[in-house]
Amino acid sequence: MKDLLVLGIESSCDETSAAVVLNGREILSNVISSQIKIHKKYGGVVPEIASRKHIESIVPVVSDALAKANKTLDDIDVIGVTKGPGLVGALLVGVSFAKAVAFSKKKPLVGVNHIQGHICANFLQHPDLEPPFICLVVSGGHSHIVYVKDYVTFEILGQTRDDAAGEAFDKIARAVGLGYPGGPLVDNMAKKGDAHSIEFPRVYFKDRSFDFSFSGLKTAVLNYINIANQKNESINIYDVCASFQQAVVDVLVENTLRCAKNKKLSTVVLAGGVAANNQLRQKMQDECCKNGYKCYYPLTVLCTDNAAMIASAAYYEYSNNNLSDITLNAYPSLKLGKNSVNEF
Ligand code: KG4
Ligand code: ZN
Repeated sequence: MKDLLVLGIESSCDETSAAVVLNGREILSNVISSQIKIHKKYGGVVPEIASRKHIESIVPVVSDALAKANKTLDDIDVIGVTKGPGLVGALLVGVSFAKAVAFSKKKPLVGVNHIQGHICANFLQHPDLEPPFICLVVSGGHSHIVYVKDYVTFEILGQTRDDAAGEAFDKIARAVGLGYPGGPLVDNMAKKGDAHSIEFPRVYFKDRSFDFSFSGLKTAVLNYINIANQKNESINIYDVCASFQQAVVDVLVENTLRCAKNKKLSTVVLAGGVAANNQLRQKMQDECCKNGYKCYYPLTVLCTDNAAMIASAAYYEYSNNNLSDITLNAYPSLKLGKNSVNEF
């Protein structure tokens, strides 16, 4: 097959990003314009502000990505864009922009599932990685264990029944006064704490399900803080962060390895914003080592939202003839299915 250059566009939450990727694997540019500073003062992403900022940023970000890759739109073979899941107003900026460029430049268009993008981030970093494998996708909005059968076929084996892992990190960070986004801040504080000092609950479901639940853990941490406050006792924030993080990581790792055993697969992959967590990486790596499994995860910059991962996913969908057309829309609750292009 001839070389294929994909322009990826991502605008599902609070990052406007554009990237140029060769053959789904090689990053020529990956420009990320983060809105974190703007949303920080509200303690979370404000959807209306996010959409407006995407509109301001999309043209300069795409121009920058093309310039850094030393390419023009004429060099691009395919345009890939996140079509969901995410904030509808934010998604619509990327989707409308991508449709306009594809239509005016007569380029093929591929709408990409954001969760599939997170999985594909690993293909950008690990040239030897190929499906099938088990992927734990943990981000601010999702916690899924995915059986990646091939580059475009996915089966969800387990998922959260309430809060996503990243959401739990963000809420606990707020409760102990650390700010937004909480994950990296809790991760940092946990390094100085004792992970076994406070016994927080770990939820495993009896029906041999691989699902997660983090809302009970979140309540347990909040109760621990409130009880200490009522008694006028000080809490050790380092220990709270370390013990909370350990509880999340234990469940994520155990369920993921159970899935790998169940599917008789020996490759385990991490993806999504929470995959940047040091304790999660360490424990997954250690447990994989004990079991003789291979463990992969992307660089931090490729764990959080970026357009290179969307370009990679678009490459594989395009290679499987899964194209979108001018009727492409934004799908805020898009699920990851057998064929992610057609399932809404
Ligand atoms: O994938 P992502 O950038 O956006 C979504 O698709 O949701 O993930 C963002 C989430 C946030 O909840 C953030 O707190 C969390 O990933 N996160 C982390 C770490 N870095 C980011 N959670 C734990 N430890 C980290 N080091
Ligand atoms: Zn994401």
